[in-house]
Amino acid sequence: MCKFLALNTSDFIYTPTNKSVEKISFTWQTPSNIALVKYWGKSNPQIPKNASISFTLNNCHTITTIDFEKKSSNNIEFELFFEGKKKDDFKPKIAKFFERILAYCSYISEYSMVINSENSFPHSSGIASSASGMSAIAMCLMSLEKVLNPTISEDFFNKKASFLARLGSGSASRSIEGPLVVWGEHPEIEESSDLFGVKFPYKIHPVFENYQDAILLVDKGEKQVSSTVGHNLMHNHPYAENRFKQANENLSILSKILQNGEIKEFINLVESEALTLHAMMLTSNPYFILMKPNTIEIINKIWEYRAENNSNICFTLDAGANVHVLYPENEKDSIDQFIKDILSKYCQKNQYICDVLGFGPKKLQY
Ligand code: DP6
Repeated sequence: MCKFLALNTSDFIYTPTNKSVEKISFTWQTPSNIALVKYWGKSNPQIPKNASISFTLNNCHTITTIDFEKKSSNNIEFELFFEGKKKDDFKPKIAKFFERILAYCSYISEYSMVINSENSFPHSSGIASSASGMSAIAMCLMSLEKVLNPTISEDFFNKKASFLARLGSGSASRSIEGPLVVWGEHPEIEESSDLFGVKFPYKIHPVFENYQDAILLVDKGEKQVSSTVGHNLMHNHPYAENRFKQANENLSILSKILQNGEIKEFINLVESEALTLHAMMLTSNPYFILMKPNTIEIINKIWEYRAENNSNICFTLDAGANVHVLYPENEKDSIDQFIKDILSKYCQKNQYICDVLGFGPKKLQY
């Protein structure tokens, strides 16, 4: 028997109320996330081909303020500033996002919006800012919606924020809560949905508390192939169906590992997911490689260190050359030293970012 009422797309359509506000601003800080089981392959509109799960990060985040001012015309109107400077080259992506969500948030055409955004991590670091960036905009919109319709619950607020963020960038749907979020319908994850991310619903083993993620900045340049192109290449991919099945099975296995703390199994699954993601890129047509020589050097050094020190260090990758080094808090001192002494040499300008599991967005008051 179904224990909860599943939400459908139509449940997210805003029904106008008699409330109105002339001028209002909201600021949200929302995190980046790193997938353990990867989302790679989607259908329209931003529906994942398999369920994915990610660690929410703490230090890598976006802070976005939106100033809303009521206007008489009925079109989408916004200005965009990034780190204090007008950013017209980011506008088309955001414009497309607003057009996509207009059906669910009709109020956005009634306000002129000034968006001011900044990231805690360097813009050209190769760290995807779409997850934190889109989720921050979604949270600001939901804050306005909450003023217009104060009856919405916190649960609905978060689900709709994730639903909207997803329409901007799939992985952004997982940046609304923490420390672990699942996006994509999965039989073993209660309330999971293709439409929005949900907090991992089971108790996590203490070994994963304060889990560390050091992001090694191997290549800070523009990616040669965007995630959107990569997702599309899964459409006629010879291994696609098996991959989607494997990802869902891996999520079942990982769900148990996260609860029982079998860290060796965690390492095996997470590294296999990272390499499988890149294997999908290698076997697409056209094929492409996002790893750089130093990505491989780092992976080999991590494997050597793990064997020599009986360590629980491991890595994951996103759609780029940077390496996320994952390790439990009780190894923090020794692994931080290893990163500083050895791995940083393989990073551009020796740069890396130390992060830790986080708990989701924060509303900031000025
Ligand atoms: C490799 O969320 O960036 O990081 O939905 O097209 O915006 P769009 O793609 P995006 O894809 C992320 C892919 C990934 C894996 C993951 O985060 O699950």
